[in-house]
Amino acid sequence: MASATLELQGLNFNLSEEHLAVQEAARDFAQTELLPGIVERDNEARFPAEQVKRMGELGFMGMMVSPDYGGGGMDTVSYVLAMEEISKVDASASVVMSVNNSLVCYGLEAFGTEEQKQKYLTRLASGETLGAFCLSEPEAGSDATSQATSAEDKGDYYLVNGTKNWITNGGSSGICLVIAQTDREKKHRGINCLIIEKGTPGFVVGKKEDKMGIRASDTHSLLFTDVQVPKENRIGEDGFGFKFAMSTLNGGRIGIAAQALGIAAGAYELALKYSQERKAFGKQIFDHQAIQFKLAEMVTKIEAARLLVYKAARLKDEHKDYVQAAAMAKLFASDVAMWATTEAVQIHGGYGYVKEFHVERMMRDAKITQIYEGTSEIQKLVIARELIR
Ligand code: CAA
Repeated sequence: MASATLELQGLNFNLSEEHLAVQEAARDFAQTELLPGIVERDNEARFPAEQVKRMGELGFMGMMVSPDYGGGGMDTVSYVLAMEEISKVDASASVVMSVNNSLVCYGLEAFGTEEQKQKYLTRLASGETLGAFCLSEPEAGSDATSQATSAEDKGDYYLVNGTKNWITNGGSSGICLVIAQTDREKKHRGINCLIIEKGTPGFVVGKKEDKMGIRASDTHSLLFTDVQVPKENRIGEDGFGFKFAMSTLNGGRIGIAAQALGIAAGAYELALKYSQERKAFGKQIFDHQAIQFKLAEMVTKIEAARLLVYKAARLKDEHKDYVQAAAMAKLFASDVAMWATTEAVQIHGGYGYVKEFHVERMMRDAKITQIYEGTSEIQKLVIARELIR
């Protein structure tokens, strides 16, 4: 059996034939279907609708969801392998995939009722519709307990009012998980998560953000004015919403760490290739030690990031505590992505600064991995708190 084995703190990183097959399928898809047109999609901030549809058909949108609900029934390691390969080429497509898989599908499968799973998860896992995770607000990013969006309890329904900001898949999703405050006196224990479908009266898609990176993903504000949401659309017990958001984000951070890893690895691979093509001072630039040292440092840090990502994924698969491991993976991999993409631009010189060589886009894309699903500062907070928990 083909395998790549690695042991770390008692964790076994055997990659099975199935893992390697998923990795290869994601790599092929990225090269043949995501790479063409990527510069134009980035320039025009155009959502990769066709490509996302194909990702659904190929099973990338509900990879870890049970086959009972139309998912792939795969483990988290398979998911991060696919995320890495897709992110090597197209981080806009991979954030669509990450939010759908690890925030929306996971959240519904882990905490939803059977009816919610039948009604919503099956559509999300097949890629028939996309999901959005709506936590951030104009005045609540890192400070996520300060929810201004309200979900007033009206007996058999909630009345939702407020604005959500920077919502990935905001324009293209059909199903949104919306975090809102029901009882302010109870603070974070008075927060609920509600499933709200597009088309519900009073729910309007707001402005599309013009972003620095991941420009082809559609990031919108969402506006809720007297939106009536039936009680059966609440996930979990009354007041479970904040815990839901935090628990879901723990896994989401593994997905974003894998995205950061992929961006870094993609930029490294392009820089290595370019260094063997470009000549300066009579020889390939690879033969200059200044370039070799950059590449050596890049590949070393990328490998370290990969170990942290695999470790977090494996802990989740083994149902062990992965809160700190996920935060470490995201913190480290996102810093590696920012640094390695900057080095890749430097290795490319003037070519690195123009669009068709891809690395400048990767450098812009890398930045968001230090910000969304918890900034690097929040990851440090999470890591530190776990030290004394
Ligand atoms: N896992 C599970 N539960 C957790 C948790 C975790 N990682 N962190 C906190 N909680 C629980 C606590 O146990 C506590 O519950 P109880 O009161 O029942 O014990 C509750 O949540 C409140 O916790 P704290 O008192 O620690 O809350 P806090 O306000 O001091 O800090 C925080 C919490 C860690 C800073 C949190 O607000 C946070 O993670 N902020 C960042 C938010 C974030 O990641 N936003 C990303 C937006 S989503 C996105 O980017 C998606 C996208 O589109 C790409």
